[in-house]
Amino acid sequence: MADFFASCPSELSGILFNELSELGMEKLEKTNSGVYFTSSWEGCYKVNLHTRVASRIYKPVLEFIAYDKDQLYNEIKKHDFTKYISETQTLAIDVKLKDCKMHDQRFVAMRIKDAIVDQFTEQSGVRPDVDSKNPDLRVHVKATKNNFWVALDTSGSSLFQRGYRKEVGEAPIKENLAAGLLLLTEWDRKSSVIDPMCGSGTFLIEAAMMYMNMAPGTLRKKFGFQNWKNYRKDVWEKLVNEAINNELPPPETPMFFGYDLDSQMIKKAKINAQHAGVDELIKFRKETLSLIKPEVTKGIVVTNPPYGARIGEEDWLKDVYRDLGYALKHSFKGWDCWILSGNKELIMEMKLKADRRIMVFNGPIECRFLKYSMF
Ligand SMILES: C[S@@+](CC[C@H](N)C(=O)[O-])C[C@H]1O[C@@H](n2cnc3c(N)ncnc32)[C@H](O)[C@@H]1O
Repeated sequence: MADFFASCPSELSGILFNELSELGMEKLEKTNSGVYFTSSWEGCYKVNLHTRVASRIYKPVLEFIAYDKDQLYNEIKKHDFTKYISETQTLAIDVKLKDCKMHDQRFVAMRIKDAIVDQFTEQSGVRPDVDSKNPDLRVHVKATKNNFWVALDTSGSSLFQRGYRKEVGEAPIKENLAAGLLLLTEWDRKSSVIDPMCGSGTFLIEAAMMYMNMAPGTLRKKFGFQNWKNYRKDVWEKLVNEAINNELPPPETPMFFGYDLDSQMIKKAKINAQHAGVDELIKFRKETLSLIKPEVTKGIVVTNPPYGARIGEEDWLKDVYRDLGYALKHSFKGWDCWILSGNKELIMEMKLKADRRIMVFNGPIECRFLKYSMF
């Protein structure tokens, strides 16, 4: 058994907690930025494969206090990094410092790298190279007020990169944030979902994957732990086969509906859904907001309308939000409608009263995820 930490977008750690508990992880402990859990390495593979919400799964290896470069070097050397990769493989060090006596991130990263590669040189005379883009081992270091937390990134690239989204528009939402928001709506995973401004289709593709019980990790080509000496290919393949065998068949007719006024976006969304293997479940159509009529009687609306970071966009966006308010009021009576927006003034243009408001960050933008019950 070992301790791991699953990071996630802010405000989603409650959802991640439930997800990890359903996956059978133990000793869960929630923080603002994620959840600690205890499991075997097989459990770590399982979480990487099945999580919809986590951004990365870390294996914490060291915690210490260091005020100067020598302390830092000696503390790092206390953990044996040679047990993960060989001297011919590559590594990268990511460092984030806050209120520390050593405040130069590049210097700290260099010192940590030296302490790690010296372990290899002492053992074999050869040191691993650094590859900041695509390393075999990514070491993540966070330090606040001289307290260092060192963890290995078992995921490799961030888990929002499922692998299906080859085509995006201007402001795509990250896949794990879209999935987490869908879970926040308490959608029953059986009824329809409509996104009237679907862009590259992320909400609907994630919803369709949930409907089919498809593990997001089955679409990905590579995980960090697969480069390590302790990697058990047989265990991973068993988990992937189990996940594929547990997928549910698609419904007889599409249950998810995506509209966008931009025909190029509709083309992109269709390609993405094909890559994810859920194109049978989703009907995409070019349509403007004010003309959308739901093709089913029951379900939820989830969308993130544009919220314009650029000056001069506000005026026409006001019209878009007015159209959205009108469409929800007149075409979606009886539906629960969820809107993600980073612009309070634009939300007011909808002239609707929200029953729930949840603050979330979409990248660096502080947003509101608002629920409107359209009686
Ligand atoms: C922020 S993007 C949505 C991003 C999407 N969630 C994704 O993951 O790619 C907003 C979308 O609204 C569309 N849009 C803007 N005005 C619209 C309107 N009046 N009717 C329908 N779609 C509209 C834009 O073309 C754009 O693709």
